[in-house]
Amino acid sequence: MNITVIGTGYVGLVSGVCFSEFGFNVICVDNNKQKIESLKKGQVPIYEPGLDDLMKKNTDANRLKFSYDTKESVKNADIVFIAVGTPSKADGNADLSYIYSVVEELASCINKHAILVIKSTVPVGTTKTIKQFLLDRNVDIDVAFNPEFLKEGAAIDDFMHPDRVILGIENKKAKKILSQVYRPLYVFNVPIVFTNLETAELSKYASNAFLAMKVTFINEISNLCEVCGADVNEVALAMGLDKRIGDKFLQAGPGYGGSCFPKDTNALKSFAKEFGVNMPLVEETIRSNNNRRNKMVSKITNACGGSVKNKKLSILGVTFKANTDDMRDSPSIEIIHSLKADGAKITIYDPSFSEQAKNIFNDVTWGNNAYDTCNSADVVIILTDWFEFRALNLKELRKRVNGTLLIDLRNIYNVKEVEDSGFNYCSVGRAFHI
Ligand code: UGA
Repeated sequence: MNITVIGTGYVGLVSGVCFSEFGFNVICVDNNKQKIESLKKGQVPIYEPGLDDLMKKNTDANRLKFSYDTKESVKNADIVFIAVGTPSKADGNADLSYIYSVVEELASCINKHAILVIKSTVPVGTTKTIKQFLLDRNVDIDVAFNPEFLKEGAAIDDFMHPDRVILGIENKKAKKILSQVYRPLYVFNVPIVFTNLETAELSKYASNAFLAMKVTFINEISNLCEVCGADVNEVALAMGLDKRIGDKFLQAGPGYGGSCFPKDTNALKSFAKEFGVNMPLVEETIRSNNNRRNKMVSKITNACGGSVKNKKLSILGVTFKANTDDMRDSPSIEIIHSLKADGAKITIYDPSFSEQAKNIFNDVTWGNNAYDTCNSADVVIILTDWFEFRALNLKELRKRVNGTLLIDLRNIYNVKEVEDSGFNYCSVGRAFHI
C-alpha cells in the first residue's frame, strides 16, 4: 500500500511516520523546501518525544520518504491524506485556504483510483464540498474524513494506541481500503467506527469542545474551592472515580491553550451559527477560558501583596503544556506580558528551550535550569507542569530565593510538602494562607 501524506506539521508528520511503522510505503510532502531538506537529513522540526527514533528507523528501512513535489508523490498513491493546518481566521472560522490550494493542485495530478482522505480538522460539510470541487474539475475520486486525536507530547502513543479511529466514508471501496490502513490496530482491539462524512467531521469538534469544557468546568470549581475550603484536586479525584465522568482532563490550571482547543471551540461556535444553531455552552467555555488568564494575573498580584512592581518573578515553564515546545495560545503569553506591564522583573526557564518562546519573551532573562533561574527571586511561579518541576528539591530552592512565596498554577505539589520546606504555597483551587 502506498500512502502519501500532504503537510508535515504535527498531524501529518506523526501520522506519516506511524503509517510507515505499520509497514506501508509513505511519502510525506510539504511545500516548504527547507523543511523537507531538514527532514531528509533526519532533523525533526517539532519537539515530540520518540519521533526522531521512529523516523530514522523507517527512513533507514526505505519505507519513509520526504518530498516537496506533490505531483510526483501522488502518482502511485493508493491513499492521499491531507493534513495541512486550518488555523483560525479573525472571525473565528477555520481558514481552509491551505486545504484548497492542495486540492487545487491535486486536481491536476491525483491518481483517479486513489482515495483522498482529509485529516485536517474541517467544519462540517467541507469534505463533501471538496469532492464537488474536484468533480467540477472532472476529477471523480472517493473522499473520506479521518479526524486525528493526537495530543502533543504523547502523539506517537496516541496514534499507536488510540481510544478509537473514526472514519467518515461514502462507499464500500473506501471502507475496504481504510480498513486495511488501520488493520494493524485491530490487534489491540481498537474500535474502528465507520460513519458518514458529516458525523466524522463533527465528532472531532465535539470531542475537542467537550474536553475544553471539562477543563473549564474544573477551573470554575477551583474558583469556588478557593473560597469555600474545598480542595480542587480532591474534588477532581472524587468526580473522576465515577466512570460516567472519568478522571481525565480534570486538572485545574491557568486555562487551556495550544493550537487546537482555542481554534476548534471558536470554529465550532462559528460554523454552528452558519447552520442557524447557537452553542451557549461552547460560547461560555471560550469566554470563561479567556477570562482565566486575567484571573491568574490577579491571583499572582494578590499573593504578592497587591502589586508585582519591581518584584523579581522567576517563571518555571511557559509552553502551553509539558513535553512540547509549542507556544501557540499558551496562557503564559498573556499572563507574563501583563505582569511585565505591571512592573515585574521576569526570569524564565523552560525545559524545551523553545525558540518560539524566546521570540515572544525577547526582553526577559532566560535561565538554563530551574534552580539557577530562581536565584534571588522574590517569587517562584510554576506555569507549566513539566515532569522535572514535579520533584524539585524545595529546601534547596528555598535557600536560593529571597522571598518565601511559591505560586503553582498547575497544582503539582501537595500543600504540606511545600510548606514544610519553608515556602508559602499558593496554588489553584486550594485555600491560601500566609
Ligand atoms: C488536543 C486533544 O487532546 C487531542 O485529542 C486532539 O487531537 C488535539 O487537541 C488536536 O485537535 O489536534 P493538545 O492540544 O495537544 O490535544 O493538548 P491537550 O493535552 O488536550 O491539552 C490542551 C490544553 O488543556 C492544554 O493547555 C492543557 O494544559 C490543558 N489541560 C488539559 C488542562 O488545563 N487540564 C487538563 O486536565 C487537561
